[in-house]
Amino acid sequence: MERTLANAAGGIIAHDPAEQATPAYSTPFALPFPTFAPEPEHIPFNRFCKVGTEFAYIQQAIDAMQISGDGRFTALCHEILEKDLGVGKALLTTSCTHALEMAALLLDIQPGDEVIIPSFTFVSTANAFVLRGARPVFADIRPDTLNLDESRLEALITLRTRAIVPVHYGGIGCEMDTILKVAARHRIAVVEDNAHGLYGAYRGKRLGSFGSLATLSFHETKNFSCGEGGALLITDPAYFERAEILREKGTNRKRFFRGEVDRYSWVDIGSSYLPSEILAAVLYAQLLARERIRKQRRDVWEFYAAQLADWAAENGVGLPRIPSHCESSHHLFYLLLPRAADRPGLIEHLKAAGILSVFHYLPLHLSKMGRTFGGVKGACPVSEDVSDRLLRLPFYNALEPATQGRIVERIKCHKF
Ligand SMILES: Cc1ncc(COP(=O)(O)O)c(C=O)c1O
Repeated sequence: MERTLANAAGGIIAHDPAEQATPAYSTPFALPFPTFAPEPEHIPFNRFCKVGTEFAYIQQAIDAMQISGDGRFTALCHEILEKDLGVGKALLTTSCTHALEMAALLLDIQPGDEVIIPSFTFVSTANAFVLRGARPVFADIRPDTLNLDESRLEALITLRTRAIVPVHYGGIGCEMDTILKVAARHRIAVVEDNAHGLYGAYRGKRLGSFGSLATLSFHETKNFSCGEGGALLITDPAYFERAEILREKGTNRKRFFRGEVDRYSWVDIGSSYLPSEILAAVLYAQLLARERIRKQRRDVWEFYAAQLADWAAENGVGLPRIPSHCESSHHLFYLLLPRAADRPGLIEHLKAAGILSVFHYLPLHLSKMGRTFGGVKGACPVSEDVSDRLLRLPFYNALEPATQGRIVERIKCHKF
């Protein structure tokens, strides 16, 4: 039977197993997938940028006939992360969300426990703990770095507080000296949500190495990506063994593979948090190119900062700033517009030139779920204000200066 595979215009691809068993195409590149390549004039907000070796490593994983989790490529990624970040153990996970869920399990978070998180963050920072029955306690952010305001932290601590989860927004470190001191004083765990901050540093120490636990994201939007992925970073050795068990469906399978037990069995609660070797192969390619990627992102960030500085000052627009004791991972670049009312017009002005700009987090305490935990308007005024005025500009590893120049010119000709 002859089948028609619709192209991009049709938007449908037939997924017929019989058809897949007798492929009519000799190379993977001839597969009739619709092309999602943007129009030449269109500048996306984000795009996955391959470093070039991904296919070779995927091929190796497949040729080795080992594509489930925890094979060679996963081990290589673990080694790079552990060495570069100075953490005792790194475990790849299927997402940062899952790494956060593992952190909640490791801390044995129970119903009624409280966990302090910034309101200005992604939903997973909260949900990972809410899934265990915890109540998120929303902290406001600092107006300069948009990170959890450490000066207000201690006032939020109660006898039920079990963890503080700072988020290094945009890859700029939270004030970890104060956060760690407060946490130690009250014997509370610190879990860094470092989804944005791989290779950022605070006072010379890598983000993700401060808390007893920390998490990373390798989602497509992040600096290093395998599509969907993450990692749990562990500095406290007390968590090493249980983390392996939770990640492997509650079994001691890792110990079995190391030859430490003669069979593996169900020993704890757990789930399936390990990514396949195909994803680890992609991530390995990206991590091997880490110096190049870090430089690309620094260049993109510095271009925006330099080219927009005068315009921003003249128009009362805030730009991200990196405190001198922090090294940024250069995850994102934003404009903090003078008024909330300025944002829709600028988004439209950019869109008319094919440039996609987006806003970021809506304060969690004002979300439908956040309100069920007592969130009310005015509780986190800085988060509420910033959330309405912030606009993120296109940012990806291979963003060319010429393209960036177009974005900057377009911004500058906008009349508020
Ligand atoms: C601060 C923060 N934490 C966690 C996540 C979740 O990451 P993932 O998509 O890898 O689960 C995100 C996603 O962007 C995020 O911004």
